[in-house]
Amino acid sequence: MADVRSTDFSENGWVDPLEGIDLSAKNIVVLVSGGGTNLQALIDAQERGELGGGVIKCVISSRPDAYALKRAKDHGIPTRVIQRKSFPDVESYSNALIEALYQEYADLVVQAGFMTILDRCVCRAYQNKIINVHPALIPSFCGKGYYGLHVHEAALEKGVKVTGATVHFVTEVCDGGPIILQKAVEVKADDTPEILQKRVMEEAEWKILPEAVRLFCEGRIKVKDGKTIIS
Ligand code: GAR
Repeated sequence: MADVRSTDFSENGWVDPLEGIDLSAKNIVVLVSGGGTNLQALIDAQERGELGGGVIKCVISSRPDAYALKRAKDHGIPTRVIQRKSFPDVESYSNALIEALYQEYADLVVQAGFMTILDRCVCRAYQNKIINVHPALIPSFCGKGYYGLHVHEAALEKGVKVTGATVHFVTEVCDGGPIILQKAVEVKADDTPEILQKRVMEEAEWKILPEAVRLFCEGRIKVKDGKTIIS
């Protein structure tokens, strides 16, 4: 019988299935629900080589009609739709999501305008590996009920002069996980919620989300005592 240890694979036409694959690259799965402008900022950063070697492996949407899905498809990124309402309870939904993340070998999960609150199971399975972008300076205007345009309506209602965006790790406390990056944005006297939302996206979200992903993929974020340390 031939001794496999002495076989010359290259001469026998053996092809290494991992050849050309960067095994150190982090697999990123992006969770979306809507327009996907933050996803677009991540795709653009990836194409400019600014994600620290991270690769967007898959986009998972909570809605089949999310425009974010088209953005992913236009860039050849595989997509999935996993809706909470397709499952009888939170547990089976969470299991399906975790299974999908395992199948994609996710190293990092990014919530980019994702409107389903993840339960404890998912948060614990991916502890300090799920990040979220929130359109305000946490701890202001955050938590249950503060999402999308509602955040900017609340900021204008309160009359704050400065708002902004936050990228943070996701824990079972809604918008309560360790803060990674924040950026302030000026509120102007004649702002409407829509105008303010656009300014916060352009000046803050689309910058700090790719930046946080890059820091994560470069292994530069540590969490200690509920706070992040960036090296
Ligand atoms: C973004 O402003 C994002 O910060 C916010 O929804 C919008 C999604 O826009 N997310 C939340 O409010 C989560 N709490 P996009 O789909 O164009 O990225």
